[in-house]
Amino acid sequence: MKLCSSSIALVAILTSLYRSTAATTQTNVGGAIYFISNDPEANHVLTAEVGSDGSLDFQRAVYAGGKGALGNATPRPADALFSGKGAVAVSQEANLLAAVNPGSNSLALFHIDPARPSDLVPIGHPVWTGGDFPMSVTFNKKGNHVCVLNGGAVSGVECFRVNRVWGLQAIPDTRRPLHLNQTTPPSGPPGSASQIIFTDDDSQLVVAVKGAPPASTGYLAVWDVVHNGALSANFSTVPTPQGGALPFSLSAVPGTRAFVAADPNVGFDVFDLDDASKNAAVAVQGQAANCWGARSPKTGHFFLTDPGAAMVNEVAVDGNLKGSVVAQYSQGNTTTALVDVDIGAVGDNEFIFILATGDTTVQVRRVDGPGSTTNVGAFGYGAFYNTTGLGIVPRTAQGMAVWSAPASH
Ligand SMILES: *[C@@H]1O[C@H](CO)[C@@H](O)[C@H](O)[C@H]1NC(C)=O
Ligand SMILES: *[C@@H]1O[C@H](CO)[C@@H](O)[C@H](O)[C@H]1NC(C)=O
Ligand SMILES: *[C@@H]1O[C@H](CO)[C@@H](O)[C@H](O)[C@H]1NC(C)=O
Ligand SMILES: *[C@@H]1O[C@H](CO)[C@@H](O)[C@H](O)[C@H]1NC(C)=O
Repeated sequence: MKLCSSSIALVAILTSLYRSTAATTQTNVGGAIYFISNDPEANHVLTAEVGSDGSLDFQRAVYAGGKGALGNATPRPADALFSGKGAVAVSQEANLLAAVNPGSNSLALFHIDPARPSDLVPIGHPVWTGGDFPMSVTFNKKGNHVCVLNGGAVSGVECFRVNRVWGLQAIPDTRRPLHLNQTTPPSGPPGSASQIIFTDDDSQLVVAVKGAPPASTGYLAVWDVVHNGALSANFSTVPTPQGGALPFSLSAVPGTRAFVAADPNVGFDVFDLDDASKNAAVAVQGQAANCWGARSPKTGHFFLTDPGAAMVNEVAVDGNLKGSVVAQYSQGNTTTALVDVDIGAVGDNEFIFILATGDTTVQVRRVDGPGSTTNVGAFGYGAFYNTTGLGIVPRTAQGMAVWSAPASH
């Protein structure tokens, strides 16, 4: 049954009524996680508060002011957007959250209230992303600029300045084409865009594009950030190192202009924008589809999720950016469909949060130290949000972003 727009409004009202009762009971929230329902009828940001033991308390579905969308692939893949890394982004610095509306070509901005981080407050109205099928968004370090990746027929990037009263305002000279040969919605995952991210020093804006092997092997598109956040007219292209082919998610290596990219063709890739001789593809034994990753500040290691093998792979790069595999953790079975991942501290512990779209859960592991993690459990968001009136269809949600409460001492 198709929902008409008035039923969507009713769902939104019911959800907010539900939220206000939930909100009164909470105290001392140590952290929260966010991802999007990506429902083609009405996209919501789904939120959960995180207990000090890593347990999740699903709280609210906040309407994102637009629609989700599904990439063009049969059967439906685990990742409806052919990526999802960055479908939501959090600025810890500025207490902000940005979320894409892939079916409405718009980008929404919210304030995160540190006392009630599930209580997202919209700032302004969603803005046009300057292209089709927005699929990934990123903040700069200060949290005052946001850039979005469009992966459809009109592909490219655009950046916005954050105005905390009016919302997002397009920055001149940042709407830049990517010239992907794509449709709306795009086909993939091979040959589709993946993720947008700044280098650790905010000096360059980077987009990962997957190849479609054997015909093509993917690349990073790199724009220089020039004055006032404007982008260079054209991007330069960094080819995927030999052996890799589908750079999916990118995690920055702090203090460098390098990235670790999950790559289902091999395991992962290392890209150094300053020294291409360090670029390399690194094999991960037994991997089937390493596609998402996040860096653990506690260990400095990267954790990559593999839905095809139901594994979490812990990998590291040394001071010369040489990559290695540290540990592999079995994480349920392949029906759960692990996708986006983020890592953050809650209280004294650090946790890995993995979106599992197949069984509509979020799986949580605790990072105890290098090479050592403990499974915390799987928390069902589908069952919970269905009770609020949303219909959470498996293999639709995308994104994962953590917000951590500032340490209280
Ligand atoms: C673009 O994609 C279409 C459909 O997949 C394909 O037929 C065509 O050859 C592609 N064009 C280029 C220039 O790659
Ligand atoms: C950028 O690309 C356009 C065509 O795509 C070209 O005409 C122009 O010369 C390029 N500019 C620079 C600075 O390379
Ligand atoms: C796979 O995991 C799901 C969800 O955790 C569970 O319901 C199912 O029984 C498992 N299937 C197998 C074959 O173990
Ligand atoms: C939630 O509702 C959707 C849509 O009706 C359904 O596909 C899904 O199986 C439900 N999830 C659970 C966990 O019951």
